[in-house]
Amino acid sequence: MKLGEIVLLKTSHKGKIREFITSVSDEKFHSDFGMIEMSELLEKNEGDTVESHMGQTFVIQLPRMPDFFRHAKRTGTPIMPKDIGMILGYTGLNKNDTVLDAGTGSGILAMYLGSIAKRVLSFEVRDDFAEVARENIRRAGLDNVEVRCGNIVDEVKELDEKFDIVTLDTIDSATIVPYIPSILNPGGFLVTYSPFLEQTAQIRKAIAEIDFFEVRTIECIERAMSFSDRGTRPSTSRVGHTGYITIARL
Ligand SMILES: C[S@@+](CC[C@H](N)C(=O)[O-])C[C@H]1O[C@@H](n2cnc3c(N)ncnc32)[C@H](O)[C@@H]1O
Repeated sequence: MKLGEIVLLKTSHKGKIREFITSVSDEKFHSDFGMIEMSELLEKNEGDTVESHMGQTFVIQLPRMPDFFRHAKRTGTPIMPKDIGMILGYTGLNKNDTVLDAGTGSGILAMYLGSIAKRVLSFEVRDDFAEVARENIRRAGLDNVEVRCGNIVDEVKELDEKFDIVTLDTIDSATIVPYIPSILNPGGFLVTYSPFLEQTAQIRKAIAEIDFFEVRTIECIERAMSFSDRGTRPSTSRVGHTGYITIARL
């Protein structure tokens, strides 16, 4: 492993997995399982193990977006992986795309988008939230995701570049829709995410005023299965309602 590389250290304790995200350095990493000399990882590879001074064994992994999702500091309600999956699947986001995102919140969606796209520009109206998101993004090792503090309702009028995808997760998304043709490349996608149908109906009304193609509003229901000696069935604890996703292509 290299100096500065971000790593996930995983261990098992009383039948439960405990995990930590840190980076390879010449410093010590402390947890309730003891101290690890992080420079020891310079001699190791992904999948190898390292021991704390208390003899606790950790497996070394390279963190991926679902790991950053679990470990990111949260300011508001982030978009869940199931909904992110729909956004990626229906837009076909790729490595050449530039994305405009708002509001940043904890930066979860911006990070997932940034792990695939060329560049993500994300606007967050609250200074303190923007700072937390920047820290989450930095910890995820992404240098192509920029968080600017600003109100997207005003900022959208000032933008002098075009994007391939625009993702909106704000209460006022409907008011931004009329500006989308001036900032979205032809064939690009607008994606909005709203927890309520009333907001979604306003968004659909605004979209109907513009010549979009392939407009759809979807809700993604996640249903995990539970396996036990007694039988197999849908899990009784589940991810409930999250939000409605509207996707429109210009
Ligand atoms: C639900 S959170 C977004 C979560 C984010 N998509 C994520 O995955 O972490 C909504 C965020 O939008 C911000 N916001 C609300 N209105 C805004 C606006 N007009 N411009 C920019 N940010 C806004 C809020 O401060 C809040 O942080």
